[in-house]
This record gives sequence, structure tokens and C-alpha cells, in this order.
Amino acid sequence: MNIKIALLGGDGIGPDVILQAVKCLQAVEETFNHTFSYTEALVGAIAIEKTGNPLPTETIEICKNADAILFGAIGDPKYDHNPEATIRPEQGLLQLRKELDLFTNIRPVQVFPTLIDRSPLRKEIIQGTNFTIYRELTGGIYFGEKKLSADGTVASDLCEYSEKEVSRIAHLAFKAAKSRRKKLTLVDKANVLESSRLWRKVVTKIGESYPEVHLDFMFVDNAAMQIILNPNQFDVILTENMFGDIISDESSVIGGSIGLLPSASIGAEHALFEPIHGSYPQAKDKDIANPIAAILSAAMLLEHFGLEEETRAVLKAVNKSLRKEVVTPDINPNSPYGTSHVGDFIANNIVDTEDQLNINNENIGLGKSTII
Ligand code: IPM
Ligand code: MN
Repeated sequence: MNIKIALLGGDGIGPDVILQAVKCLQAVEETFNHTFSYTEALVGAIAIEKTGNPLPTETIEICKNADAILFGAIGDPKYDHNPEATIRPEQGLLQLRKELDLFTNIRPVQVFPTLIDRSPLRKEIIQGTNFTIYRELTGGIYFGEKKLSADGTVASDLCEYSEKEVSRIAHLAFKAAKSRRKKLTLVDKANVLESSRLWRKVVTKIGESYPEVHLDFMFVDNAAMQIILNPNQFDVILTENMFGDIISDESSVIGGSIGLLPSASIGAEHALFEPIHGSYPQAKDKDIANPIAAILSAAMLLEHFGLEEETRAVLKAVNKSLRKEVVTPDINPNSPYGTSHVGDFIANNIVDTEDQLNINNENIGLGKSTII
């Protein structure tokens, strides 16, 4: 299969982790005889620096012409600490989501059995966690009208949703639930917000066409608590843009590191794959960032194109790196391995699943004998 992939490394650790994901995709090409082509494009703070625009027109064109986009991370502390900045790196990603109409953001949350003891939460609570967040991505408070009074003392952000915006993602979430454990939880704040009441109405109605799926509702404040208290109660969570942003970061602690969680942003015509972690500027160029979330995002890309065996090969190689503790310091503070070594290990294990070679490979990293 030929797939045209736009590579948007972005800021901070983004380019580092995307490089590792590309190594893995190349390993998939080699092993399964595919041809992927890669076109790099600028986005975020780096794009502002080079062009004055966080999403240059050229980048939009490259993304529109690609079959899929692999995205690193966005953001720079320079802008975070400057409330006066009118051009911000994040605008690049938000505009891209809007421009490509990537209305559904899918964030799977799972616990890797090998890492269960590394989670800050107790094993009994998190064992078996496996849920997916369907976050609406192009509406709500992120994109509603923004106002700032002339004297700069009053500000507002409008949270607006239309029936159509709710219904298109709701169908995808119900379909996902149908193919999983058949439970859908709508997370909202319907006791306070009019927009949440619209969500409930529309989702309840759509639920009638999916009778096999059990639909329930949870207020977002309670959901924030339940995700930590009993994550096993969730199968598919459907929620609006801002709530989804917050609960997906929260959910990432279950697995022990935010550096493990991938995501897919899907529209009718385009698809973008990105780790859920941010740009982690402190780790830039230090070779310590965890590449697994980016590599798993590449696996979601493969899955999106129906390449199941290829997806499994990537997951298997990732599991092996965790099992053999070829991991970055966020997972094991004493680990001698860095971003690129972990990327190499996973890519090599996609190409060659022979155990002996892998032991050999590990020895190289440890500076031990490479003769087996
Ligand atoms: C995410 C990020 C973005 C968001 C930022 C970088 C704009 O936090 O993808 O979760 O808030 O959506
Ligand atoms: Mn976020």
C-alpha cells in the first residue's frame, strides 16, 4: 500500500519522537512491502520563528494533499508566560483541526501489564483498565466567540454546539462502543450548562438506533473522580472538547506515564495522529523523551488504513521494549536508554522478531559484548 504522510514535528520533543515513529513506519514498509512517502512541514512556535505564522499556507496544502498526518507536539514556554502574545503556537494546531475538519479525537487509555506497578494508582484499581475517550475536537469553548473588553478587564469564551456537531461524533462513539464492551458514557455538565443539555438530548435520541449499547451519563466533576476511583467502569467515554482535553490528561496517569498515550483525530476526509503529551520543552534535545506515544500514534495510523497485521507488529515490538525494560527514564529513572535507542529497539523488533537478535541489540545499547 502507498500512503502519503505529512510529518509535522512541531515544537519541543515533537521532532524527536516523530523521528522514532518514522523509524518504525519504515520498519513496517520494509517488513510488509509497503511504500510510505513523507513530507515534512512546519507548525507551531518553530513555524512562527521561521515564517511568522503558526500554520503556514504551505503546511495546510501539504496536509490536505497527504493521506495522513503524523503530528509531534506544539507549544513553547516563551508564549505561555506572555498573555499579551497575539500569535501563539497552539493556534497552529487548532486551526489545522478546524481547517481539516478533524471533529473526532480518539484517545485510548490502557494499562500495560508490565508497567502496572509504576502507576501512582494502586494495582487493584487499575488492573484491566481499557477505555477510549471520544473527544469532540472542532467545537465548544475552544472555537466559540472570544471577547475582551476595550479596557482589558472583562473576557469571555463562548461554548456553542449544534445538533449536527454532536450527532456526527456521537455516531462514531456508538459504533466504537458496539464493537467493544457496549457501554457508552456521555460526560457533561448538564446540571449547569445549556450546551450539555443539548448533548444529552441529541445523544439520547441517537442511542435509540444503537439498542445494543448501554448509554449512561455522568457529570464531568464526578467523572474526574470516577476515572481515578474505578477506571474499569468505563468502555467508551463521549464528551465535548474542553472536558475531553482535561479528562484525557487525567486518564494518562493511570498507565504511569503520559508518554505512552497516542491519539487519532479523524474527519470525513482527513486523519491526523499525535501523541497526547505536550512539547515538554525541558526535555528538548536531551534524548530522554518517551517515543512510545508517538510510535503508538503511528500504529493508530496503520490501523486507520486497515493494516491490522502491521499494527499488531508495532504493538508487539512496543510491548517487548516495555517487557525488556528498554524504556526512557520517565518509566524507569535508572534506565540507561534514551529516545533514539528505544526507537531503534522497537523498529528493529518490527523488522526482526527473533529473540536472539534483540538480546544482541540490547547489549549494544548497554555497551556489553555484542557476541551472543
Ligand atoms: C491536546 C492539547 C491541545 C488542546 C493544545 C496544545 C491546544 O492540549 O491536544 O490535548 O488543548 O487540545
Ligand atoms: Mn490536552
